Amino acid sequence: MRGRELLASEIASQTAAHQAYGGVVPEVASRNHLVHAPRLLKTVVETAGISLSKIDVFAATSGPGLATSLMVGASIAKGLAIGLSKPYIGINHLEGHLLSPFFGEELQANMSLLVSGGHTVLAHVTGVGEYRVFGRTVDDAAGEAFDKVAKLLGLGYPGGPEIERHASMGNPERFDFPRSMLGSEDHNFSFSGLKTAVRYAVEREVRTGEQLSAQQVNDFCASFQAAAVDVLVRKTILAAQSAGVSLVTLSGGVSCNRALGNALATSCERAGLRFRAAAPALATDNAAMIAFAGMLRFERGFVSDVTEEIDPNLALA
Ligand code: KG4
Ligand code: ZN
Repeated sequence: MRGRELLASEIASQTAAHQAYGGVVPEVASRNHLVHAPRLLKTVVETAGISLSKIDVFAATSGPGLATSLMVGASIAKGLAIGLSKPYIGINHLEGHLLSPFFGEELQANMSLLVSGGHTVLAHVTGVGEYRVFGRTVDDAAGEAFDKVAKLLGLGYPGGPEIERHASMGNPERFDFPRSMLGSEDHNFSFSGLKTAVRYAVEREVRTGEQLSAQQVNDFCASFQAAAVDVLVRKTILAAQSAGVSLVTLSGGVSCNRALGNALATSCERAGLRFRAAAPALATDNAAMIAFAGMLRFERGFVSDVTEEIDPNLALA
C-alpha cells in the first residue's frame, strides 16, 4: 500500500487443495503457504513497481489461526523487517476483517458484524485498536454452520457459496427453522441448534434408500439461509441500538452472501442506521486487509517487537 492506495495484492487460494478433505487440513495449509508465499511476494513487489528496500513497514497476521500457517507469514515479515531494518507489525486477523469495510478511507465508530468460517463477532469499534466485543457465537461460527449444512446436503466445500446458489432456487418458507436469540439482552449467537434442526428435518424427508430431490435441497438451503440471516440481522440491529452508534458494518467471508448483505442494508435503513460492507474481494481472507490494518496502526505509532510470538488464540479485546 502507498498511503490509502492499494498498489498490489495477490492471493493463492487453497480451496482446491482442501476440497478433497471437505475442510482445511493444517499440514496441507502450512506447506502450501511455504510453497506459494515467496512467489506471491515477488509478484506483488513487481506489480507495485517498487523495491523491497522502499517499504516502510512489514505487517503479518499474528493470530488467531492455525499456528503452523501463522508462523510462515509472520516469519517472512519479521525476516524482511530485520533484514531491511524496518518495523514489524503483528495484526490480529479479526482486526483485519473489522477494518476492511473502511478500506482506503477514514475509520468511523460503528457496530461491526464479523462473520467468517472461524468467527462470528459483534464488536463496537471506536478507533484503531479500540474494540469492545458485544457478542460472539457460543458454538459454531456462521460460516462453519453454512459449511456443515452444505456437507449434510451433499454440496461442495466451501459450503457458503453453494448454499447461497441453491437458496436462490428454493423456498425459504418451506421449513420453519429455529431463530436462536438467546434472550433479548444477550448479544451472543448460537448456530448449532439450527444445524441440528436441519439435520433432523433432512432425516425426516429422506425415505430409506432415497436421496433428496434437487428441489428439496434448494428448499433446505433457502430455509436455512433465511433463519441464519434473520438472527444475524436482528441481533446486529439490537446491538447497534444498544451501543448508540449510527453506523453498522459487515465483514468476513460470509458477508459475500447477498441475502445477508441485502437484509442487513434494508433493516439498517428501516432503523435509521447507515450501513457499509467490505468489498467482496476484501471479504474472504486476504492480505490487503492486513496491510490496511498495519498501515492504520503504523500511522498511529503502534509497532510490534520482532520477538512477539504468533498466538493461535489471540483475543480481539
Ligand atoms: O473470512 P473467511 O474467508 O475465512 C475465515 O477467516 O474463516 O470466511 C470463510 C467462510 C467459509 O465458511 C465460507 O463458507 C463462507 O465464508 N462464505 C460464505 C459465502 N462465501 C463464503 N457463506 C455464505 N454465503 C457466501 N456467499
Ligand atoms: Zn478470516
